[in-house]
Amino acid sequence: MRHELDKIKEKCLSCQKCELAKSRTNIVFEGGVPNSKLMLIGEAPGYHEDMQGVPFVGRAGQLLDKIFQSVGLTREKDIYICNTIKCRPPDNRNPLESEKMACREYLDAQIDILKPRIILICGNVALQSMLKLPYGISKVRGKWFDGPYNSKMMPIFHPSYLLRNASREKGSPKWLMWQDIQEIRRVYDSLN
Ligand code: URA
Repeated sequence: MRHELDKIKEKCLSCQKCELAKSRTNIVFEGGVPNSKLMLIGEAPGYHEDMQGVPFVGRAGQLLDKIFQSVGLTREKDIYICNTIKCRPPDNRNPLESEKMACREYLDAQIDILKPRIILICGNVALQSMLKLPYGISKVRGKWFDGPYNSKMMPIFHPSYLLRNASREKGSPKWLMWQDIQEIRRVYDSLN
């Protein structure tokens, strides 16, 4: 599995298929552990990710780690992390359709190689790429969908959204994330 991923990563490292190749510092290909039942697909690298070449290392990433740790899961042991696109868009703007299309082969290859049992679709950008639905994340978060290779996919809020919404009251985005992560842990435990 590592060898197959490395072959794709190598291709990605020299990728010039879209304009983002010109402004990137690093490709952000993956984080966490490959032989995991759980894969998380985020949006795109931000400033810190671009500098370090690792996904979710900024403030949003730290919150994401805490959310997983609250149910005993860590990126060192239990999760494989990647993004919809592998290079940082200037000023963290949303990825263009053409950029998502150019990068799609790498994401598809990651899914094909890992065949994760659970895919977490983190935020609206990943949602639009993975599930063609007429709804945004608020409508579908916490629901299970059938995914590739018999996987289960769940859209969840992006941690950046949670950082902008401080409330922990019942029904708030943070409260909903707490429900979702517990459901994810429950299904994770039910897999053999
Ligand atoms: N936000 C994302 O969606 N991905 C990252 O890697 C960092 C921030």
